[in-house]
Parts: sequence; C-alpha cells; structure tokens
Amino acid sequence: MIIGVPQEIKNNENRVALTPAGVTEFVKQGHSVYVQQGAGASSGFTDQEYREAGATLLATIEEVYGIAEMIIKVKEPIASEYPLIKENQLLFTYFHFASSQPLTQAMIERKAVCLAYETVEKTDRSLPLLVPMSEVAGRMAVQEGAKYLEKPMGGRGILLGGVAGVKPANVLVLGGGIVGTQSAKMAAGLGANVTIVDISLPRLRYLEDIMPANVDTVMSNEYTIRQLVQQADLIIGGVLIPGAKAPSLITRDMLKLMRPGTVMVDVAIDQGGCFETSHATTHQDPIYVVDDIIHYCVANMPGAVPYTSTLALTNATLPYALQLAGQGWQKACSQNEELRKGLNIVHGKVVYRGVSDAFDLPFTEVSEVLGHVAHV
Ligand SMILES: NC(=O)c1ccc[n+]([C@@H]2O[C@H](COP(=O)([O-])OP(=O)(O)OC[C@H]3O[C@@H](n4cnc5c(N)ncnc54)[C@H](O)[C@@H]3O)[C@@H](O)[C@H]2O)c1
Repeated sequence: MIIGVPQEIKNNENRVALTPAGVTEFVKQGHSVYVQQGAGASSGFTDQEYREAGATLLATIEEVYGIAEMIIKVKEPIASEYPLIKENQLLFTYFHFASSQPLTQAMIERKAVCLAYETVEKTDRSLPLLVPMSEVAGRMAVQEGAKYLEKPMGGRGILLGGVAGVKPANVLVLGGGIVGTQSAKMAAGLGANVTIVDISLPRLRYLEDIMPANVDTVMSNEYTIRQLVQQADLIIGGVLIPGAKAPSLITRDMLKLMRPGTVMVDVAIDQGGCFETSHATTHQDPIYVVDDIIHYCVANMPGAVPYTSTLALTNATLPYALQLAGQGWQKACSQNEELRKGLNIVHGKVVYRGVSDAFDLPFTEVSEVLGHVAHV
C-alpha cells in the first residue's frame, strides 16, 4: 500500500503520525511511504532520518494526499485539507467528529474512509489510542503544577517534596483513571502527600494495592472534596464520564476555602473541565487566576512535549496501521473488531452511532459497508 504522512498544520500541533522507526516497519513489509518534508521536525525527526528509514520525501502536502492510498495523521484534517482528500482514500487519525459538524459533512462529501483513533476500542471497552495521551497529560500535570506552585509563577511557593524537617505539599487528584494514576505516581515519586478520589470502589481498591505509602485513596463525594481542597496545594482534575461533559467537582464557592496560591490543573478540560471556574487555555497563555487560585486548563497538554507524545502515540497506532496496510481496511476491519469500532464514516455513510446521533444524520450499520465493499 502507498502510505502518506503529511505535516500537521493545525495550530500548535507538533506531533507527527509516523516516526522513522515506523517507516522502517512499513518498508520491511513491502509498503511505500511518502512523508512531507519537515513533517517530523518539531518532534525531533529529520528528513534525512526518514529518508534513511526508506521513505520518499515530498515537498508539498498536495503531493502527499495526491499519491497516498492511506493517510496517517495525528489531528483531524482542517478546512484547507478537505479538497485534497480523495474518494476511497483511507484516513487514520484523531477525528473527534461529534465536536465538528463541518468536518463531519466534509468527510461525508469526500467519500473517504475515516477510521478514528479515538473510537478504536478493545473488548474491555478501553480506548488504546487515547491511553497514551492520557498518560502523557497525567504525568505532565504534576510537572506543570509544581512549576506554578513556585512563588515567581504566582503560586504558594511550596516544594512538592518538602525537605528534611519541612512537610511536603498535599496533592489532591480527582479521578483515579489513566490521568489520575499517572499524576499520583509522579507526585508521590517527588515526595508529596497524595490523595486520589474516585467514585469507583474497585478502582480505589486497585490503586490502594499498587500505590506507594504516601498515596491515600478516598471515595469521591461533595462533602469529602470540600474538606480535602482546604489542605490541598495542588489539585489535578482527571475525571471522565464517557460521552458526557465532566462533572463540576470543584464549585466556585470552594475556591474561597482554599489557600491563596493553590494550583488547579484541569486535565479534563477537553470534556468541559471538572472545576466550575475552568475554561480552556493554550500553551501560549496557559493559566489564569480566580479568587487567588491559579487555574491551568490547557486542552492539548501533550502538544508541549511532542517528542514523547509522538513516540507514545505511534507505539500504540503502528500495529493497527500495519494491519490496515497489510490487509486493506475492509479485511482488517472485518477481522479485527477493535479496528472496526474505529470506522466512523465510510464512502459518505456514517457508520458510528455517536456521530449520527450528534448531528441527526442517517446511520448505516458497519457490517453493511464492509459487506458491500467486500463484494465490489
Ligand atoms: N487536557 C489534555 O491535554 C488531555 C489529554 C489527555 C486526556 N485528557 C482528558 O482527561 C480526562 C481523563 O482521562 P482518563 O484517560 O484518565 O479517563 P479514565 O476513564 O481512565 O478515568 C476517569 C476516572 O474518573 C472517575 N470518575 C468519574 N466520575 C467521577 C467523580 N464524580 N469523582 C471522582 N472520579 C470520577 C472514573 O471512575 C475513572 O476512574 C478525559 O476527559 C480526557 O479526555 C485531557
């Protein structure tokens, strides 16, 4: 198959969908890979490294879309890319269709095959192509929190780990999923006193078993959170209710109970945020202050560490991409249920329920498009 890797052109997107190591795997299996010049530069991969791995470098994005049977990307195509997408072309990337009607409409009109990273799903309902970014964001949340706790940054001026004779900081982690677990591990590793709250007792039991002694687990409810915020120096929000807006676990009135200079990092901001006073910020201007409490609410945290994020993402996407290239999307999706769940729009038909529901569009069973295509 002919694989195309365009440069990401969405604002502030520094990741790339395929590393030179990934190119080697495709080439080894007999595929041709075309990479846009400079596509890997922001992630630390040079054109020369791609060339040495066996890719052909192309000067323009038009050439990459023009030649490829499968486009591998990171973010959804933006408007200037829509006309470049060809009928039958396979696009394997994050789409987040339900949040953009224009994108959904454009992909229907282009009659492409859209396989979305975010809906590839394992039988245990986990989302293997979202996990790596949650891991990155969870770990980064502590790093960012520690930075903004410094006095010159506006924080309380407390060191997470303390020192001999001085108590460490208190870190409160809301949600003990992927983000929360990684945050708790990082904060605990730095020596902070960590409390994780979650509504799932089995999850709390598991965390209690695996976490070090300086991590406590507590059942999540309003009363408890109200108590905990009063002693917290750093609060990290990582709750998720799949398919819904995040619940506002920290209400505006709770800010008054906190110590000035407390830092709150709302990782769940991409789902609306779990603090009532959260609104999305960018890496250019990541924080704002409400009632003396610092809010960090960057919606694409992994974008700040593109080297790590690119490798983490491609480690997860590569096996799926290789299967798609090796078997073609119809066969790969027929045989692999995880990949089949990633199909969102195929030849102008919406085959993912969440997308058809979001915009009241006709829904087509995925088996229908697979069956139809298999007989063509
Ligand atoms: N800002 C970013 O750059 C960025 C990056 C990656 C992920 N995220 C977001 O971070 C959030 C968390 O992702 P995740 O992968 O850790 O999800 P996850 O499903 O692994 O974990 C969510 C946890 O929240 C818990 N929870 C739900 N309601 C709760 C409540 N009322 N109180 C306490 N806990 C509650 C769940 O039981 C679960 O353990 C998501 O919204 C995700 O989109 C943001």
